[in-house]
Order: sequence, then structure tokens, then C-alpha cells
Amino acid sequence: MPDTESVLVTGGAGFIGSHTVERLLARGCRVRVLDNLSSGTRANLPMDHAGLELLEGDVTDADVVSVAMQGMEYCLHLAAQVSVDRSVREPAFSCRQNVLGFVHVLDAVRRHGVRRLIYASSAAVYGNPVSLPVSEEAEPVPISPYGLEKQIDEQYAALFERLHGLSSLGLRYFNVYGPRQDPSSHYAGVISIFVSRLQRGEAITIYGDGSQSRDFIYVGDVARANERALFGHATGVCNVATGRSLTLLELVHLLSKFSGCCETDFRPPRDGDIHDSLADVNRMAAWLAMRAETPPEEGLRLLWDACTAARVMP
Ligand code: NAD
Ligand code: UD1
Repeated sequence: MPDTESVLVTGGAGFIGSHTVERLLARGCRVRVLDNLSSGTRANLPMDHAGLELLEGDVTDADVVSVAMQGMEYCLHLAAQVSVDRSVREPAFSCRQNVLGFVHVLDAVRRHGVRRLIYASSAAVYGNPVSLPVSEEAEPVPISPYGLEKQIDEQYAALFERLHGLSSLGLRYFNVYGPRQDPSSHYAGVISIFVSRLQRGEAITIYGDGSQSRDFIYVGDVARANERALFGHATGVCNVATGRSLTLLELVHLLSKFSGCCETDFRPPRDGDIHDSLADVNRMAAWLAMRAETPPEEGLRLLWDACTAARVMP
């Protein structure tokens, strides 16, 4: 493996991005991050690493994207407006970030002769799947502008492959958890909210009876999937998940091992909530030659310890 692979990571200062950047730097890559720091932060990145360069800029600006793409061999596009709720409230804003931004990246990849584009899609493209586990063969029926935007991105990528032979792979991440996911944002995932509340000794809220389930994947496994996708050859779309689901009650049980007792407050189910989500990961195993390896006990322990360390830091 040459030590000169260069990778542009858009959204690299965010949750999934920063874990992937760390992994790419450890591999010996030269990494350029393009991020507008709207939800990401410099503090997420090893700023003094010689292999890392941060460009503060927006993917909705074609000139900025073009400058960022110069001299890059690979691109991982993660920058996005990630709030499903905001996409419902402000669909035009969300479309600009998630579709126009994507097209700028795609076009710059083509014009600069970048070898390969890996981009973040989402399980949200499936909407409320008719059967589980859901495979990539299932028809996407998104139920939010966010899900539709990710589906449109996939269609653009497929078109650019047909038109220009552009090699790309869209990764449909399921529910990702781990350190650096901001629990205070209104679109925070349930695990980061629960850990943050439990560490402050606060009650946690369960919407519904807690029997709903999700395919939660640890962010370290997602970073590994991103790396394998970048330096592999598969094109199209691929689920990134564990292939196992956990109910909220099981999650609370696992977390109570760290927190001691935990006070739970049951409320009515959230509007639009799907009850269960579970991925078919056969394609991931075949195309990326990997499975998510971090069991929930270990992933939750890593998250719990990282949050504890962050709380005791001055
Ligand atoms: P995040 O908010 O932590 O990361 C997004 C990053 O993109 C941030 O650093 C933000 O500052 C940056 N950004 C946002 N808009 C930008 C713009 N216009 N120009 C440049 N930078 C911009 O979120 P994340 O969870 O790390 O998500 C990364 C990607 O994965 C997103 O595309 C998201 O839709 C997708 N995804 C995430 C999950 C999950 O569970 N976290 C699930 C499915 C898909
Ligand atoms: C994700 C999105 C959500 C979107 C949905 C459908 C995130 C963080 N959430 O939700 O915005 O509408 O996909 O595309 O990206 N829960 C609690 N207590 C809490 C928080 C959550 O009980 O304090 C429950 C939820 O009601 C849900 C489950 O936990 O049943 C998981 O919630 P969440 O982490 O938001 O993920 P999704 O439901 O998959």
C-alpha cells in the first residue's frame, strides 16, 4: 500500500467523518477535510497531524468544491444536512445541502479525474420497509425529504457511472452510535441521548413500550466500512449495519450495567416512528469483505468511557 493515497473527506469534522479521518491518517493517507463546521468541529480532528489539512467551506459552493478536489485521488462525501425533522420543515434548504451539494461533489470528481467516490446514503431511503431484514433489492419508498434526497443522490451517482464511467459506492448507514455524536442536537440518536442523561443522573424517556428495535452500528465499524469501500472496487449501493437488532428495553438493560439503576419515563410513541429496523448485510459482507465486529456491550462501553472522560476534562 503506497503511503501517498490522498483522500478528500467532506464533512470530515463531524461524527462519522472524524472517526474515518483518524483511520485514514493511521493508514498513512494524506487527508483533506472540507467542512463548513455547521455541526462538526475542529476539536473532533487531530489538527496537528502533518497528513491532515482542513478547508473551511461549503459543498453548496461549486468553486470551493472544485478547489478542494484538486490533486485528490479519492473522495468520501459525508457532508450533509442530517436532520430528518429539518428536512420536513425546510425542504428547500435540505435539498440544497443534500442534492445540490452532492451534484457539486459528483461533478468535481468527474472533472478532476478522481478515481473513486464513496458517499453517505442512509437507511432512510427504505422508509417503512415491508419486510425485514431489508436488502438493497427492496424498493426505496422514503417517507421524508431527507430520505428522498439520499435516494436522488444514489440515482445521480448511477447516472454518472453510465454517462462517464464514474466509479462510486453509496453506503446506506443504519443507526450509527459512538463517541462525538452530539446528544444536545434535536436530531441526536437515542443512544447518545440516553448515555448523556444517565451520566447526569437524569431519567430517560422511552417513546412507546420500548419493544421497538434498531440495527445500531458502532461508529468504528462504519469508519472501517468507509475505508474498505474507498480502496475497493464495488459500485452501486450497499447497507452498512450489523444485521442484528436491539430493542430499546435491551439497550436500557445494557446501559444500566454502567449506570446502576436507571429511571425511565414512558411516553406515547413518536409520530412517524417505525417500529423495527434491521438490515440484510450479505452485500456488505461480499462487497466490503467485512462484518461489523463491535458487539453492543463493547460499543456502549467505549461510548460510556469516552463520555465519562469528556465530562471530567477541565
Ligand atoms: P454530522 O452532522 O456529525 O456530520 C456532518 C458534517 O458535515 C459536519 O461536520 C458538518 O459540519 C458538515 N456539513 C454539513 N453541511 C455542510 C455543507 N453544506 N458543506 C460542508 N460541510 C457541511 O453527521 P454524521 O452523523 O457524521 O453524518 C455523516 C453522513 O452520514 C451524513 O451524510 C448523514 O446523512 C449520513 N448518515 C448518518 C447516520 C447516523 O446514524 N449518524 C445514518 C445514516 C446516514
Ligand atoms: C431516525 C431519525 C429520525 C427520523 C427517522 C425516520 C436520527 C437521530 N433520527 O430515527 O429523525 O424521523 O430515522 O427516518 O437520525 N427514542 C426514545 N427516547 C429518546 C429518543 C428516541 O424512546 O429520547 C426512540 C425513538 O422514538 C425510536 C428509537 O428510540 O423509536 C430510535 O430513535 P432514533 O435514535 O431517533 O432513530 P430512528 O427512530 O431510527
